[in-house]
Amino acid sequence: IQDVEKSYDAELQLLVHTLPKEEGWVSGSLYLYQGFWWSSLALKPMISFQRHFEAFDSDVMVATFPKCGTTWLKALTFSTLYRDRFARDEHPLLVSTPHQLVRHLEYDVYINNPCPDLENICVYKPRLLATHVPHASLPTSIKDSKCKIVYICRNPMDMFISLWLFSNKLRDENQESLSLDKVFDKFCRGIHSLGPFFDHVLEYWNASQENPDKILFLRYEDLKEDINSQLKHLAMFLGVPFTKDEEKQGVVEEIAEICSFDKLKKLEVNNKGLHTSGVPHKDFFRKAKVGDWSNYLTPSMVERLEKLIREKLDNSGLTF
Ligand code: A3P
Repeated sequence: IQDVEKSYDAELQLLVHTLPKEEGWVSGSLYLYQGFWWSSLALKPMISFQRHFEAFDSDVMVATFPKCGTTWLKALTFSTLYRDRFARDEHPLLVSTPHQLVRHLEYDVYINNPCPDLENICVYKPRLLATHVPHASLPTSIKDSKCKIVYICRNPMDMFISLWLFSNKLRDENQESLSLDKVFDKFCRGIHSLGPFFDHVLEYWNASQENPDKILFLRYEDLKEDINSQLKHLAMFLGVPFTKDEEKQGVVEEIAEICSFDKLKKLEVNNKGLHTSGVPHKDFFRKAKVGDWSNYLTPSMVERLEKLIREKLDNSGLTF
């Protein structure tokens, strides 16, 4: 395995030299791989995931662009899919973070291990895992199998502000805080980790339109507006619809409640320890407000982003 690892590292070094490169927002460089920008640290586990992951037909993937509601969607999908496995007062979310319960493939599981033991990593079955990998770059077995994908996107302005504030927390102590102007320009040019944002969203959007039984495309704002009906939709998509009895007993509302921002933000488990990115778990719970961008973006920034949204999403059928 060590020899394979060595030749793999050498291959990766060679590959990195051939890729277009830009300065990252926080530290290090970003490399353009298969149309998206990756940090050198994430590139290796992402390629391991691409090469070695074997999907089962029964698998469920939570796929997201960072800061679009990953934490929330992980909690909701976990709680819906496995709802008959635990008693209400023994809900795993009371003692583990959503990121510990639904492990991330390229940013966690494959980080130090090109062939992780996924059977042990996924305590409950069917397996539930998460990824930020763009649709076109997903391992072929995910696309070719019957495994289901749940994707969430968010208004680009709110997502951008959330990303900017979160990235500020990722920087080294001696690094000055990230200038909004500078990162806004990079964001508009698609130069950010996993960017361009619009390409990421559109790939999943188009794939969900072509194959709605395989990919459920959700919007953060719709979940905010009516979580109960979105949860019913999610359960139906996952093949575990809520029964009339469950609905009468208030199971849908219970899941919405335990996964709610106010509930999760207060839990001790989400206020201690570090995420695999090195960021404190509590930083995944900021404000969760729709429209918070209006407190930060200048009118000219709004104008530029609105124009970009129009250009990118025109004729796609996707709106924010
Ligand atoms: P804000 O920075 O706007 O507050 P991700 O989970 O993809 O990293 O996204 C983080 C964003 O989702 C943050 O947005 C965070 O506050 C919000 N969030 C986290 N948990 C949430 C929940 N249970 N319900 C709604 N929003 C949540």
